[in-house]
Amino acid sequence: MLEAIFVLIAMFGAFYFVEFVYPLNERGGIFAFFVILVAVFLIIAPGMYSMITGAPFVLTTKKRLSAMIKLGNFKKTDVVYDLGCGDGRIVREVAKCGVKKAIGYEFSFFTFLLAKLRTFLNGGAEEIYFRNFWKEDFTDSTVIVCFLLPKPMEKIKKEIWPKLKKGTRIVSNDAKLPGVVPEKELHKVFLYIKK
Ligand SMILES: C[S@@+](CC[C@H](N)C(=O)[O-])C[C@H]1O[C@@H](n2cnc3c(N)ncnc32)[C@H](O)[C@@H]1O
Repeated sequence: MLEAIFVLIAMFGAFYFVEFVYPLNERGGIFAFFVILVAVFLIIAPGMYSMITGAPFVLTTKKRLSAMIKLGNFKKTDVVYDLGCGDGRIVREVAKCGVKKAIGYEFSFFTFLLAKLRTFLNGGAEEIYFRNFWKEDFTDSTVIVCFLLPKPMEKIKKEIWPKLKKGTRIVSNDAKLPGVVPEKELHKVFLYIKK
């Protein structure tokens, strides 16, 4: 919702800026409007896709965040991926545990920018990338953290879980990994270990 408002403001702002710098006739105005519309759509399309195929951006509460850190039991040798890192709050906390790598993928443009900005301002060791995690490889992971809807968890079970190394942990906030018994549960955060 917030993103849609930003997009509308950005779209009309850009249009009036073009009009101001270079006053257009009616045809030029319509053309500029559509060029801006397409450009803005290209920016928001990944965000819409993420909302539908993963989850919308919802902040993790402090209670759940500490449950994730506790269940994750992160070590120096861990390579951790956050599937849809939002503003980067989880992956940042994971990086603070001194892991080998803490990588966050985010495919919603404005949320990605927010995560990047926060990493820049805090000087964190986490790595944030603008990526669609469904297209990424997690075979080098030792831990995956996520906060997604139940439907994408089914897809994770089918497509990502079978490719993970033995011993890899999944720490999932809120949604269960279907057909797998969690090793532990704390405040609706579930820990799974690949056997
Ligand atoms: C509920 S939020 C969780 C944010 C963060 N992991 C946390 O726990 O605070 C889910 C995030 O996943 C992102 N997302 C959903 N599908 C995605 C995809 N295919 N690739 C990358 N990010 C995705 C959304 O844009 C959203 O920011």
